[in-house]
Amino acid sequence: MDIKTSKFVISNSKVEDCPNSGLPEYAFIGRSNVGKSSLINMLTGRKSLAKVSGKPGKTRLINHFLINENWHLVDLPGYGYAKVSKKEKKVFQKFITDYFKKRNQLVNAFVLVDSRHEPQTIDLEFMQWLGSQMIPFSIIFTKADKLKPVVLEKNIAHYKSVLMEYWEELMPMFITSSANNSGKEEVLNYIKEINIGL
Ligand code: GTP
Ligand code: MG
Repeated sequence: MDIKTSKFVISNSKVEDCPNSGLPEYAFIGRSNVGKSSLINMLTGRKSLAKVSGKPGKTRLINHFLINENWHLVDLPGYGYAKVSKKEKKVFQKFITDYFKKRNQLVNAFVLVDSRHEPQTIDLEFMQWLGSQMIPFSIIFTKADKLKPVVLEKNIAHYKSVLMEYWEELMPMFITSSANNSGKEEVLNYIKEINIGL
């Protein structure tokens, strides 16, 4: 699928204030610094549509982008960011969980995990929670450019084996790099197929 137009719509901290366009929506979620905002830029072919930073905790609001005038991409703040205060963490957590619970037009969440790391409890728990809320999701392994192909393959196989302890069936998975555009077509085609089926 080609992305012909992409534009920023609105940032806010309340799901109630998100655009009530009724358009299908795809959200990117994962730990801080995993590469959510970079991936949105890579998919849209825009250098700085979403704000990126080397420091975790850059995205702090729910950010809506309108794609091809007929669906939304949503950039969310990361979970598990250690440097915010406990109180702030709770507020963050609340608006992220609220978003997933209340956003009826959400059709799929992409849970991003860093392809270099062991499966993390916080990610596995978040996936369990999405499952408990009946929210369809897929996994995106990020920063694949940072690994040699054999190591990447080994890490993904290990991740799958851990997931199989929790899930009867594996969810769709994508391997991406925002540095070299790998995985772009796969993710966009997946979104396209879902949009066609709606
Ligand atoms: P928060 O908004 O803080 O939750 O982070 P985020 O998940 O949006 O991550 P962001 O896209 O801001 O990227 C974090 C850092 O990782 C930046 O320094 C990016 O340049 C880098 N990065 C993201 N994706 C990739 C990738 O695919 N490859 C490489 N090499 N670096 C990446
Ligand atoms: Mg971000």
